[in-house]
Amino acid sequence: MLKNKVALVTGASSGIGRAIALVWAREGAKVVVSDVNVQAGEETAALVRAAGGDAIFVAADVGKPEDCDALVQRTVAHYGRLDVACNNAGIGGPQAPTADYPLDGWAQVININLSGVFYGMKYQIAAMLQGGGGSVVNIASILGAVAFPTAPAYTAAKHGVLGLTKAAALEYSAHGVRINAVGPAFIHTPMIAALEQDAGVNAMLVGAHPIGRLGQPGEVAELVAWLGSDRASFVTGA
Ligand code: NAI
Repeated sequence: MLKNKVALVTGASSGIGRAIALVWAREGAKVVVSDVNVQAGEETAALVRAAGGDAIFVAADVGKPEDCDALVQRTVAHYGRLDVACNNAGIGGPQAPTADYPLDGWAQVININLSGVFYGMKYQIAAMLQGGGGSVVNIASILGAVAFPTAPAYTAAKHGVLGLTKAAALEYSAHGVRINAVGPAFIHTPMIAALEQDAGVNAMLVGAHPIGRLGQPGEVAELVAWLGSDRASFVTGA
C-alpha cells in the first residue's frame, strides 16, 4: 500500500507515532522517525528495522521552525524525496480552567500542538510539490471537535489543526498534495496514563466511548496509513 514511499512521522518515540512508523513499515514505506526524545526515537527506528523495514531517526523539535526545515531536508537528502508526512507530535499540557491556566503552559501547548503542525506542513508541502505530490496527515483529536474542561489550550490547538488542515487542503489539492486530519478519541498511550490510573476518571473516559473501551495506537495508525496511500486518492480536506 505504501511500497517505496518515503514517509516521515513526528512524535514517533512513543504511542501513536511509534505505531504509525511500524504500520507504515509493514506497508513497505521507508520511514523517517522523528522526535525530541532521541533514545526512544532510535528505539522506534530499530523496531522498524527489526521488523524488516527501512528507517532512520532524525531528532527535531516541532516547536522550532528551523528543526522542521532541517528534518525535511535530511529526509530528502537520505531518501531522495518525501511522499507522506504525519504531524503527530503533541503534548497534553497543564490541566486547569481557563482563568487559572498558566501563561507559559498556554504558549507551550499552542507552539507544539498548533504552530508545530504549521511549521511541519510549511516545509513538507514544499518538498512534496517538488516531488510531484504527496499526502499530509495531521493528528488532531476528538478535542478538535468538542471541548474538555481544564484543557483550554489543547482544545483550542486541536480545533486550530482542523482549520489549518482545511485551508492547506484547499490550497494544494489541485497540485497533487492531499491534506487530511485524524481525530482520535482517547487512546491508550503514555499521554493519558495518569488519567487512566484514576479509576473514576478512567470509568468516565470509557463511558464516553460508545465502543466501550479506549483505543489502541495501532488502530489510529491503520487510518493514517490508508490516508497516506494512493487508495485515499480522492480524500482531502477531511
Ligand atoms: P505520547 O506522549 O505517547 O507521544 C507523544 C510524542 O511526542 C512523544 O514521543 C514526545 O517525546 C513527542 N513530542 C513532544 N513534544 C515534542 C516536540 N516539541 N517535538 C517533537 N516531538 C515531541 O502521546 P500520544 O498519545 O501518542 O500522542 C500523539 C498525538 O496524538 C498527539 O498529537 C496527541 O495530542 C494526539 N492524540 C492523543 C490522544 C490520546 O488519547 N492518547 C487522543 C487524540 C489525539
